Amino acid sequence: MEVVREIYLDNAATTKTSDKVMKRIIDMCTEFYGNPSSMHNKGLESDNMIREAAQIIAKAVLCYEDEIYFTSGGTEANNLAIRGVSKANKKRGNHIITTKIEHSSVRNVFKNLEEEGFNVTYLNVDKEGYVNEEELKDAVNDNTILVSIMYVNNEIGTKQNIEKLGSIIKKKNVKTYFHVDAIQAFGKYIINVDREKIDLMSISGHKIHAPKGIGALYVRKGVRITPIIYGGGQEGGLRSGTENTSGIVALGETTKQTYKNLNVNTEKMMEFKTKLVSEIFKKVKDVYINGPEIDKSAPHILSLKFKDIKGEALLHSLSDVGIYISTGSACAAKKTDLSKTLSSIGLTDNEIYGTVRLSFSPDNYVDDIPYITDNIAKSVESIRKVLRG
Ligand SMILES: Cc1ncc(COP(=O)(O)O)c(C=O)c1O
Repeated sequence: MEVVREIYLDNAATTKTSDKVMKRIIDMCTEFYGNPSSMHNKGLESDNMIREAAQIIAKAVLCYEDEIYFTSGGTEANNLAIRGVSKANKKRGNHIITTKIEHSSVRNVFKNLEEEGFNVTYLNVDKEGYVNEEELKDAVNDNTILVSIMYVNNEIGTKQNIEKLGSIIKKKNVKTYFHVDAIQAFGKYIINVDREKIDLMSISGHKIHAPKGIGALYVRKGVRITPIIYGGGQEGGLRSGTENTSGIVALGETTKQTYKNLNVNTEKMMEFKTKLVSEIFKKVKDVYINGPEIDKSAPHILSLKFKDIKGEALLHSLSDVGIYISTGSACAAKKTDLSKTLSSIGLTDNEIYGTVRLSFSPDNYVDDIPYITDNIAKSVESIRKVLRG
């Protein structure tokens, strides 16, 4: 079927690389292509560009430039933080804490460490996806070396009160490190690593209009961490391998653009989300929001539960008319596993099957809402006709 119109509503999975960022990538590949480890001018030139990108990111989250380590993406940043800290601090304690709604790139590292003998606490969340502060307080003890909690949930958009959670952790045990997966929050919120008591924080470029395959980990000075990749000692020895210079510069450029336009962009996304929800509710019956109310959740994420619908059928039906959405999270979408986030907030299996995620960027237009909602209404009606008989 020929698609005449494309409306991309899957921006929590990945985003389109912006033109400005593309131009910087081309320049890096064709002009500033030196190896940053080379001692000649061409090497120094690209090394300087890496430093410049680190400065931009450091300025955005209020840390020092040499506390930013570039990685191949969010997954690697999460692995490095959790495995690197757990390994380096094993002698101090073997208790580590996370939540039941983390992305698989956190959850599966904890599972792996558990198999290696670490004692892991998985914190519950309430029906909107918020971590229970009392449960966290009770869980942290003298043996706890690390707590990892995501800033914004990628499926339902719940934004934790990181500052509060950070204070609880540090009050119970000042030596416990706090890692935050900020992959869905970076570029959407002002983050202040000091105020929020964050010791390590993961970010990813392709969620904010840079290409896939670039990310970064903030590591507070003094945090004890070991590498998970060994080699030539790049990135202060924490992440060996010739730097992805074009990706790094792209991440710097996109960070600069994103934070320059932060308020305008988040307002635009919130307006789009609010209008979209209101139109969907007018045209479709038996549809509910998963997670917090729309003005409390992240501006770019909307999780909807439709009664008597298979989310996958809705996804395909919309895809045929050029509207791109997802079922749970993209990484889990191709697996048969049911979403851990949705089951943790209390959804039944049927409700999980009936859930879709729509996620936005500032490039979405309010003018497209009638087309989107007409097609949602049409698709829902025909799927229900089949399912309800
Ligand atoms: C919350 C969260 N953490 C981690 C990741 C993984 O990041 P990357 O795709 O850069 O490996 C994602 C990607 O969907 C995510 O949403």
